[in-house]
Amino acid sequence: MNDSANSDALPRLQGRGIVRKLSWLALVLAVGIGVHFALQGIIQSGDAEKRKGPDLARLEQLEATDPARATKARAGMLKYESICRLCHHRTGIGGKFTPPITGKTEAGIETLLKLYRDGVQMGPLTNLMAPWAAELSDEDISNLAAYIAML
Ligand code: HEC
Repeated sequence: MNDSANSDALPRLQGRGIVRKLSWLALVLAVGIGVHFALQGIIQSGDAEKRKGPDLARLEQLEATDPARATKARAGMLKYESICRLCHHRTGIGGKFTPPITGKTEAGIETLLKLYRDGVQMGPLTNLMAPWAAELSDEDISNLAAYIAML
């Protein structure tokens, strides 16, 4: 009699153990997911500027007034966003080791880019900049200058 009561209780106890284990697992998962999203929020909130796209409003304004120039600037923008932005920042303000490239005339930017392309030693970090300029065609340079001049 006693024996059969014990063998009935055993599976019930085991069942409760599994429920408890699963609750722990759910709790750990919930905390893990919470921490993941909180960290993601913290990391990304510091980086909002880096995730912003180019200033399309100004380009659209130019498209309305001077479509030919806007086409050049748009081509320059695509190039800038894919290469130059990495070091010179979205707005051309430069970075820790990179000079700002804003506030220059279009012709000035063209001249500088051609000097870098020709392999002229410019500043202390020319080695960082020259390989990128070496890849640019005359058309790229003129498009980039049109875009950078309006940054
Ligand atoms: C790997 C980082 C890097 C990339 C990518 C890069 N640059 Fe530069 N750029 C530099 C550095 C560093 C300098 C300063 C070099 C020196 O000391 O001579 C510079 C200088 C310049 C200058 C001259 C600024 C001045 O006042 O003398 C211009 C203009 C320029 N870059 C435009 C561009 C354009 C356009 C692109 C994209 C095709 C580009 N850069 C891509 C790092 C970079």
